[in-house]
Amino acid sequence: MVEVRLENVTKRFGRVVAVDNVTLEFPDGRFSALLGPSGSGKSTLLYLIAGIYKPTSGRIFFGDREVTNLPPKDRNVGLVFQNYALYPHMKVYDNIAFPMRLRKLPESKIDAKVQEVARLLRIEELLDRYPGQLSGGQQQRVALARALVKEPDVLLLDEPLSNLDALLRLTIRAELKKLQRRLEITAIHVTHDQAEAMSIADVIVVIDRGRVQQVGSPDDVYNRPRNLFVAGFIGSPPANMLPGRVLRDGVVMVEVAGARLSPREEYAKALAETGIEEVVVVFRPEHARLGYEPASGALSIEGEVYVVEPLGRENIVTVMVAGVPVKVLTPPSVRPRAGEKLYVSVPAEHVMLFDPETELNLLHLLEPRGLGPD
Ligand SMILES: Nc1ncnc2c1ncn2[C@@H]1O[C@H](COP(=O)(O)OP(=O)(O)OP(=O)(O)O)[C@@H](O)[C@H]1O
Ligand SMILES: [Mg+2]
Repeated sequence: MVEVRLENVTKRFGRVVAVDNVTLEFPDGRFSALLGPSGSGKSTLLYLIAGIYKPTSGRIFFGDREVTNLPPKDRNVGLVFQNYALYPHMKVYDNIAFPMRLRKLPESKIDAKVQEVARLLRIEELLDRYPGQLSGGQQQRVALARALVKEPDVLLLDEPLSNLDALLRLTIRAELKKLQRRLEITAIHVTHDQAEAMSIADVIVVIDRGRVQQVGSPDDVYNRPRNLFVAGFIGSPPANMLPGRVLRDGVVMVEVAGARLSPREEYAKALAETGIEEVVVVFRPEHARLGYEPASGALSIEGEVYVVEPLGRENIVTVMVAGVPVKVLTPPSVRPRAGEKLYVSVPAEHVMLFDPETELNLLHLLEPRGLGPD
């Protein structure tokens, strides 16, 4: 168990900058998720930590030990890939035993260890089968077992659940979280699925175009997104964004699509710190309500219902507001008709404001370090 630290790590492939000057720490014994869209550099970052790639520049540390130039076998990491990568001609038992046989451990020790992890992952009954005779979820557990028998200091997981069906994903991700807690191993889990990252991780690192966008708890990235990218990436459906104008006649107000908002105290303070006139007004679909009257004490914007998508547990209602589609989550009973005019209301406490130039959450003006690195 060690913390993993990256200092100014850059990785280029020819002209592509896959990882761009990343400085970051993955805490000891915690579950971290590396979250970002396709092509954002997640796998590259993971393989740099594993030692499969060498950084173009920068340094990597496991605890106090610099590992930048060490090959994978000297780093004691366990790696699980998206596609399991089990040896098809070996039985499950031998797949799991393989890393220990490479290390020439005595067979009696190997056997004890295989039985132990098999129990842990509940695959004792499968040891005598070939990978081709297993379901995807079972193969995934075997791959995890093979990574764990090495007793790695760091467990690295690259989209390990992406080949599984939705139900199995939920089951295995819960198991993975319990397992990590129990072993207190430093785990780094790559995913592009924000719900998976939120559910599993203590720390979420949001990455885009090779750069770290925010590091924080699930609560931080959801409630205090550092920039517009994070605000739009975390949450489903994504946060709504509308242009707003700052009015400074005595008290600070924000005008959005003809409606006025008295921003919550923190934002009023932040706006007082800066002279900006334009803002991006951001709120989540789950924080908005629909009504035929404007709500008092809230931002209430008039719009026209565009489409209603019933999902059983809730509906997603898309309302056109000044030409911008705004999504609102409603209880199943709230099902307005397309073309109806109504109000989208959001309590001021749930309205976030961002700078359209820098794309930063204006809260950063109050606590520059609180929302992560620049
Ligand atoms: N071996 C390589 N040679 C050239 N370019 C590469 C190589 N590996 C990755 N890249 C590029 O680096 C960028 C980051 O790729 P990476 O595989 O790290 O993304 P990712 O976040 O894991 O994406 P995904 O979610 O699709 O797996 C991409 O633009 C990719 O095309
Ligand atoms: Mg990848």
